[in-house]
Amino acid sequence: MKKISPVSRSGRFTHGPGADVARFTESVSFDWRLWRHDILGSLAHAAMLRKIGVLYRAEHGAIARGLKAIARDIEQGRFKWRPELEDVHMNIEAELTKRVPAGAKLHTARSRNDQVALDVRLWLRDEIVLLLGDIAGLQRALVSLGEKNADVLIPGYTHLQRAQPVYLAHHLLAYVEMLERDCERLWDCYSRVNICPLGSGAIAGSTLPLDRVLVAKLLGFVDISGKPQLTQNSMDAVSDRDFAVEFCAAGALLAVHLSRLAEDTILWASAEFNFIKIADAYTTGSSLMPQKKNPDIAELARGKTGRVFGNLMSLLTLLKGLPMTYNRDLQEDKERLFDTADTVRASTRLMAAMLQNIKINRAACAAAASDPALLATDLADYLVKKGMPFRRAHHVVGAVVALAEKTGKPLNKLSFAELQAVDKTFGRDALGVFNLKTAMAKRNLTGAPGTKEVAKQLARWRKQLS
Ligand code: ARG
Repeated sequence: MKKISPVSRSGRFTHGPGADVARFTESVSFDWRLWRHDILGSLAHAAMLRKIGVLYRAEHGAIARGLKAIARDIEQGRFKWRPELEDVHMNIEAELTKRVPAGAKLHTARSRNDQVALDVRLWLRDEIVLLLGDIAGLQRALVSLGEKNADVLIPGYTHLQRAQPVYLAHHLLAYVEMLERDCERLWDCYSRVNICPLGSGAIAGSTLPLDRVLVAKLLGFVDISGKPQLTQNSMDAVSDRDFAVEFCAAGALLAVHLSRLAEDTILWASAEFNFIKIADAYTTGSSLMPQKKNPDIAELARGKTGRVFGNLMSLLTLLKGLPMTYNRDLQEDKERLFDTADTVRASTRLMAAMLQNIKINRAACAAAASDPALLATDLADYLVKKGMPFRRAHHVVGAVVALAEKTGKPLNKLSFAELQAVDKTFGRDALGVFNLKTAMAKRNLTGAPGTKEVAKQLARWRKQLS
């Protein structure tokens, strides 16, 4: 049986690669998923070759029809990928040329070096848009949960110790803010992904009069004002993977945020907190302990953060020692990039689905939030309003807390006489600060968890996300 060897070896080589070499060097087992974008790029390249007279009208028509037929075959699972043809680019080109003789002209003034840079950019552009949609979905799930439980208060924590009361919605909106920054970073990354490298050739462009602007326009490489975006240095264009690093870095930070949200969810679902109950469909059981319901989605979202960090580190390491320009090392970028995109997208979607399926245990939240110690700072503010320097007020309230502890009373159950014994500044109205409702009404600075402010923030996000 005659072995098929890659077109890149014809002419100069007498043999195809050995089987183990082929296995080691192939990338089609993973880069096949670039097929759609590879074909889009080839269609634009062919249209441009037609315009500059490299392809006759009939040849262009045949190539375009051939590429579309191949796309249909791939879509329907009828396409046979051949590892001996190395990668997605050569698989598609070889099949095209088999079907359409003019296919042999398609690679004119193109190298796989600028082709793969193009394909990855096209693919990543779509992934970023999809990921942004997933993030918006998670933001909406957080806002909805906050709205449905707009009156629920919980303790806010620092050092995982109860600190001050906050609305649950305020806590959830903190994640909405983090996710919004992730979106901003991804959009910023998008602007540098959205630059067309085709026409850079292997390293040094081409002697043929390519119309790079046409290709860029056909493929939507334009800025918001419609100006075509072209890479400006052919050497940089074929070896640049900064855009992939940027995406993996933005993905890593998104993963951090998902992981922190996961951690809060896991804590809240524990018997110790008992703030939430996750619906059965979004938990799993234990193979041994019949009573268990585990928050596995959140745990996996937290756990998968490790691989997303690893992908970023792999890419940076991959690039650091490369001499100019394209080196085959760059083939190793794809699995890392694919894995980051797949992982953060799945985690984002699953966390959103889980949040849509949790119930807030209002009684447990109310019990935790009514701990009067959470309002110790309000008592200090009370003294400040009476003219006491804050440092002194802090000290006085510390003494009040110590007294409450000693007498075994909750802070808000100390008598007027007991407060007076600590400091004469306390009036009969001092214990009024422990009314949670009025305490929450008072925190209306921008960004604070006051009743009006949180309602305002919920409304702002609802509008922004709709
Ligand atoms: N599969 C290769 C990659 O992903 C395509 C470019 C190969 N170019 C070359 N000259 N060998 O990087």
